[in-house]
Amino acid sequence: MRPSIIAFFSLLSVATATRTFNITAALQPGNFDKYHCATTEQVVNLLPSCLASCQRNANANDGCAYDDIACHCVNYVKYSSLIEPCAFPPNGSCTFADLTIARPIVNDLCNFFNATLYAAYDKCNQTLSPDLTNCIIAKEDTVITE
Ligand SMILES: *[C@@H]1O[C@H](CO)[C@@H](O)[C@H](O)[C@H]1NC(C)=O
Ligand SMILES: *[C@@H]1O[C@H](CO)[C@@H](O)[C@H](O)[C@H]1NC(C)=O
Ligand SMILES: *[C@@H]1O[C@H](CO)[C@@H](O)[C@H](O)[C@H]1NC(C)=O
Ligand SMILES: *[C@@H]1O[C@H](CO)[C@@H](O)[C@H](O)[C@H]1NC(C)=O
Repeated sequence: MRPSIIAFFSLLSVATATRTFNITAALQPGNFDKYHCATTEQVVNLLPSCLASCQRNANANDGCAYDDIACHCVNYVKYSSLIEPCAFPPNGSCTFADLTIARPIVNDLCNFFNATLYAAYDKCNQTLSPDLTNCIIAKEDTVITE
């Protein structure tokens, strides 16, 4: 099971990081409302509970502002290196079934933020880290599908 679990997150964070997004999926009606001012706790509530403490831990330690989901998404190489050893056995309790549930949710969330960056954070209250996000993006290629 371990190799499939590694493959699961690796799919979202290939070695040479590329900011990828499907613009059609990102701009689906309702997404701006769904993800407006998204916080770590809101994303924790979207995913299986086995991930909760590891999400909070990764969101606090990947260098991005804690409630800046746009930054966590473009920072996925660093982010996955924090969440993988935390969430999976032997340390973590997430199963393959949990990951099957989490995968499309994370994909939709990060596809949205990779595409829109800070557009859904207009007039939000949380501290954000756009300088780090822009620094990461500047080093990457961008691949847009539709
Ligand atoms: C992009 O997203 C749309 C809407 O979800 C989907 O129909 C389309 O197949 C996706 N394109 C690719 C290349 O995955
Ligand atoms: C979002 O972009 C990052 C790189 O900036 C990439 O590693 C990640 O796989 C992308 N996420 C999605 C869902 O495309
Ligand atoms: C192990 O998992 C626990 C509970 O999810 C978490 O609090 C802890 O930080 C994890 N340890 C490591 C090394 O990731
Ligand atoms: C931001 O904070 C103000 C004052 O506390 C509050 O009225 C407003 O609803 C908050 N906005 C959001 C998007 O949470």
